[in-house]
Parts: sequence; structure tokens; C-alpha cells
Amino acid sequence: MSFRFLDLHHQRDDLCTDVLAGLAAHPKSIPPKYFYDESGCQLFEAICRQPEYTLTRTEHALMASRMPEIAAAIGAVDCIIEPGAGDCSKVRVLLDALHPSQLVVLDIAGHALAAAEPLAHDPPGLAVTALGMDFIHDLEAVLPYVSDGRRLIYYPGSSIGNFSPDEATALLKRFHQLAGSSGQLLIGFDLKKDPEQLHCAYNDAAGMTAAFNLNLLVRLNRELDANFDLARFRHYAFYNPWHSRIEMHLASLAEQTVIVANQHVHFDQGETLHTENSYKFHRDEFSAIAERAGWYRTGEWEQDGFAVQLYGVGADAFVHGASRSRSVIGRAENVNE
Ligand code: AVI
Repeated sequence: MSFRFLDLHHQRDDLCTDVLAGLAAHPKSIPPKYFYDESGCQLFEAICRQPEYTLTRTEHALMASRMPEIAAAIGAVDCIIEPGAGDCSKVRVLLDALHPSQLVVLDIAGHALAAAEPLAHDPPGLAVTALGMDFIHDLEAVLPYVSDGRRLIYYPGSSIGNFSPDEATALLKRFHQLAGSSGQLLIGFDLKKDPEQLHCAYNDAAGMTAAFNLNLLVRLNRELDANFDLARFRHYAFYNPWHSRIEMHLASLAEQTVIVANQHVHFDQGETLHTENSYKFHRDEFSAIAERAGWYRTGEWEQDGFAVQLYGVGADAFVHGASRSRSVIGRAENVNE
């Protein structure tokens, strides 16, 4: 049993560079990874408890109820790697079913990874490595910390939906490299559904999503010496059916100039700062994205508008996957619709 935490952030100025570039662009935007300071992580956990935001609870229920099948499809695994692990609550069910010898958790919010330490005590014998890092850019930096053997990359929570299809393909290619020649990918994503249901999920009545979105401005005020007046911006989220995505914006309620890191940034009345996309997929659309990154689907499970899919790399997926699940070739056999 062992636990180690390493802070691999090495570009302290990323926030400033990215924010100033995003505010100079048309339309203005800021990458959603910057939501997750300590308050942002707490607000995201609060979102997951809202009645309108069912994504996290549905995935949890699916994983709990289908775990025997999922574990059988995965087979033996030596190491689980979870990018964007956050509070590390999702991986527990996989650890109990697969008994790997190593767990590697990665998150840009390094402070959240303290939650991984108890996993090194229970189950016993698990070596846990927690890496505070921006895995979107630095995934290669993970390799020295990962043991040889069969690796499973676990990417739950529809986090992949926060990337455009091209960005998602690029990220999944890098997961493919990290997984190695006998690696697998278990990934959860939100399916297309009634736009009204999606609208409510990102406009919860308690205002948690609004607070999460506006907290980005609080962070910029604190960390970049900005002077955003929160009363002059409004949370604005809607489903864009042409792109199959929820878009989150912060809308300026007045013409105004804001100072950010000594730069003057002008907002027109009604102009928006685009803070997040959350893509929703048809299951085969998602598989096409994963296949462009070199993954082959070997299993698939669905429940109440959420999907979990299992992938293997290249030829290995055909050998192992075909014997476990006939979903590699043609339609999935184990979809629960
Ligand atoms: C982390 N990510 C998958 C969430 C989502 O649904 O896109 C973040 C979120 N944004 C607003 N509500 C939740």
C-alpha cells in the first residue's frame, strides 16, 4: 500500500495567457478547465446533487448495476489511470471489481486529489499515484509514473463532452498512446435527449450552475487582479441543436470595460463570454470519434440517456474484445435500451 502526490504543473502563467487570449478573441471565450478552483470544485459537486442534473447519478447507477458485466468485458488489469479524477469517488467501484495493483489519478485541481489517499488503504495493496497536472497538454508526463502491464484508462462523467469532436479525437489519440499496446479505455458520455431536459440540467432552479459559471469571474478577480462586477454578468446556458451541445456563456448586461491583468477588455451590452460546451452524442457518433483515434469498441452499456463504452487498441481489441463481447464487429450485443 502506498500513496504519493506530485504537483506536475509547470506553467504557472497558463491562466493569464489563456484568459487574455480568450478575451481578445471574437467571440470571447475561456477554456472550461479554469472553472475548477476550490470553490469551482465544490460548486460542481453541488451541481451533481441537483435534481435537474441527472448525468452523474445515472452514470453511478449504471456502473453499480452493470459492473459484473463491465468487469468481465474488461478482464485482467494491472493499472487504472483516471484523467480528471476530481474527488476520486467514481473509480472505487472499478477498484473493487478489477483489483489492479496501481491507480494513477490526474487532475488540474491538484487539491482535490487528496481524496485519493484513502484508496491506498482500502483496498489493501493498491499503489496510488496522484498527479496534479493539466493532462490535456502534458499527458506524456504521466508515462514515468505508470507501471507496465495492462492499463485501463477510465474517463467517466461525460468530461469528453467538454471538447469539440476534433479536440476529443486528439485527446483520445493521446489516451491511446498512454494506454500502450494492450490498453483499454472505459468512457462515459451523455446521450442526445429532449432539449428541454438538457436546458433544465444546465439551468437548475437552485442556481448552482449559475454560481459555478460566475465563479470563473470571481477566480479572475482574485488571481488576475480583474475587476469583474458579478451583478453586470448573467449565466446564460442553452442547447444548440445544430452542434448537439449545451453552450454556457456569461452575458454582459451592459456595455462595460473590465480590467484583467492590467489589460482593458471591452464588452458590448449583450455580448457573451463563452465558458463551456457540453456535447451530447448518439452512441455511434461517439464511436466514430473514438475510432478516428485508433480505438475499437468492445462493449457498450446504456441507461436513461447515458452511455458507457469500452474500447481496446487496434488488433488487440479484436482478439480480446471479440471473445468477450460481440460488439466489436457490427452492433453492440450488450446495450440495455
Ligand atoms: C464536467 N462536465 C462533464 C460537466 C458537464 O456537464 O459538461 C460540467 C458542468 N457544467 C455545467 N454543469 C456541469
